[in-house]
Amino acid sequence: MTGLIGEDKIQEIRERIDIVELVSSYLPLKRSGANHLGLCPFHSEKTPSFNVNAPRQIFHCFGCGVGGDAFSFVMRMEGLSFPEALRRLAERAGVELQEEQLTPAEEQQRQDRDRLLRVSEVASAFYHEQLLEDPQGAEGRRYLRQRGYEGETVREFGLGYAPDSWQALAEHLAGKGFEPKWARDILGLVREGQKGRGDYDLFRKRLLFPIQDSRGRVVAFGGRVLDDSLPKYINSPESPIYHKGQILYGLYQAKEAMRRSETGIVVEGYFDQLALYRAGFQNAVATCGTSLTAEHARLLKRYCKQLLLFFDQDKAGRKATFRAMEVLLAEGLSASVVELSADEDPDSYLAGHSAEDLQVVFDRARPVLKVYLDHCLALHGDSIEGKVRAAEEMLGKLRLLPSELERDLYLKELAQRTGLDEELLKKKVVSRPKVTSSKPKAAQPQVVPQPQRPLMRPTATKGGEYKIQECLLHLMKVNSEIRSKVAEATPEALFGDDDRRAIAAGLINSSSEEGKLDEDRLLNGLNEDQKAILSGIIVKDDEALAEEGARIFEDCKKAMGRHQLKERYRILQEQIQQAEKAGDSAALATFQRESLDVSKRIKQR
Ligand code: UTP
Ligand code: MN
Repeated sequence: MTGLIGEDKIQEIRERIDIVELVSSYLPLKRSGANHLGLCPFHSEKTPSFNVNAPRQIFHCFGCGVGGDAFSFVMRMEGLSFPEALRRLAERAGVELQEEQLTPAEEQQRQDRDRLLRVSEVASAFYHEQLLEDPQGAEGRRYLRQRGYEGETVREFGLGYAPDSWQALAEHLAGKGFEPKWARDILGLVREGQKGRGDYDLFRKRLLFPIQDSRGRVVAFGGRVLDDSLPKYINSPESPIYHKGQILYGLYQAKEAMRRSETGIVVEGYFDQLALYRAGFQNAVATCGTSLTAEHARLLKRYCKQLLLFFDQDKAGRKATFRAMEVLLAEGLSASVVELSADEDPDSYLAGHSAEDLQVVFDRARPVLKVYLDHCLALHGDSIEGKVRAAEEMLGKLRLLPSELERDLYLKELAQRTGLDEELLKKKVVSRPKVTSSKPKAAQPQVVPQPQRPLMRPTATKGGEYKIQECLLHLMKVNSEIRSKVAEATPEALFGDDDRRAIAAGLINSSSEEGKLDEDRLLNGLNEDQKAILSGIIVKDDEALAEEGARIFEDCKKAMGRHQLKERYRILQEQIQQAEKAGDSAALATFQRESLDVSKRIKQR
């Protein structure tokens, strides 16, 4: 569908939407000079650092670094993809997107989907009503009360009860005029009777968890028995509206808290999610008995930057943790592991401990790769073969890490713990092609920005470098001569970071021959991370910079060179230490020589 949306439409929407008005519909803003200020909706703060700039139609938070244009704002605020945000804003702006050009088959599909959602909604309301009010629901109510749940959670999650009856739902839906095929043939909530017997309900005498998509629409159910009989849970089958690899239980209720805390907690079970929610950890979602998929990871990335993996503390849970790790590494989402004593799960832990206790456990969570390294070393033992095995397994995972810096740190630790040579490990880790994200990217029309990438905070060592690069970007923005200068020097030579280099290239490409900058064209060509960086630059005051452009340009260049030398020096010191430790005198001499040379060059600058 997005393929149909041309750049002119995006432009039209851009022109008709006022970002101040848009943001104001979500949070109060106060005028302050050219900017409007408010409390950032994306992190918690007491003094406003969230800026909305009307002339430039961008926003930026100086507290947490998010920013961008109107599209970025709705994407973040509502957890939407770019095409979805586009549609939302088109509606708001009254711009026709010609989605009506669906083929008859597509139109049919859309209608069917709507119908299925409607049937699910009606079924959910029916079950909810049964739990809240019906005499038949008394058993369900008793069960919940015994597990400590009151009306509030029940309402918030729309929990339900399927009565002990063969046809309660089937009859209810028939009474509402739905043909049997929807709930039976497609949603699987009703099953076809064998040999002339009537159809019967899938869920009987079970507590029901309606499974909602990220917009709160019920798409499936999970049902728990009220005693120890088996199977403990049954779930709706997959359907055109329910693909379990794409849905996370509780996401609709959790997304706001996830965004605020920038953290998501992933658990296995429905009750784990509820228990956490009730204890005040509202940023938890459950995978509902499947492993975490790449699609789950991408969904989570819309709302948070890091995850706490809080699976059951048994063998299966551990396995699920490491399986999730592979997916998350490839998607560039960082994750830590919450560890409890054996056989606990979040729900059982909270039954005996306070939220404060759990917070202490959370604070102790360790990065999943560290946990994995420990696990490999313990598993394969202290023998030479064991260490080699462990190292190989670890290398296999490190190849998935998109961040070279992080990989480097783990390689160091791996070398230390196995006694293997770090350089050798380094060679091995790059000797095989890097495995990339599992889903191939579909060909996209040029106007659609690339999918959102993880919003990593710049690390401490990178901070200085970023600042310098951003200073240069700012210069480029206000001064066309600087843009030409950078174009001559090539952005590759000046920008070490991919995103900042892309912005530089964008600035150059959006510059007309007369040196005029087409800001919309610039924004259209950047992804969300890049827009956030750019917005931080744009909201700053231009005038001071414009005057002494050339001098600042030279300063930036110098500072960048100096920064790179310092970085090299720092690495050399580590290498010297290691060479000393390893007793490698040849390497030691080489490193010391270079270190001396580098420190001289730093002083000369
Ligand atoms: P658990 O067996 O750990 O259940 O399965 P639980 O969530 O801790 O439930 P309680 O506390 O015993 O009531 C974890 C999740 O795996 C899925 C469900 O989503 C469940 O919440 N599951 C489990 C099934 O789909 N089917 C099953 O038979 C069991
Ligand atoms: Mn459990």
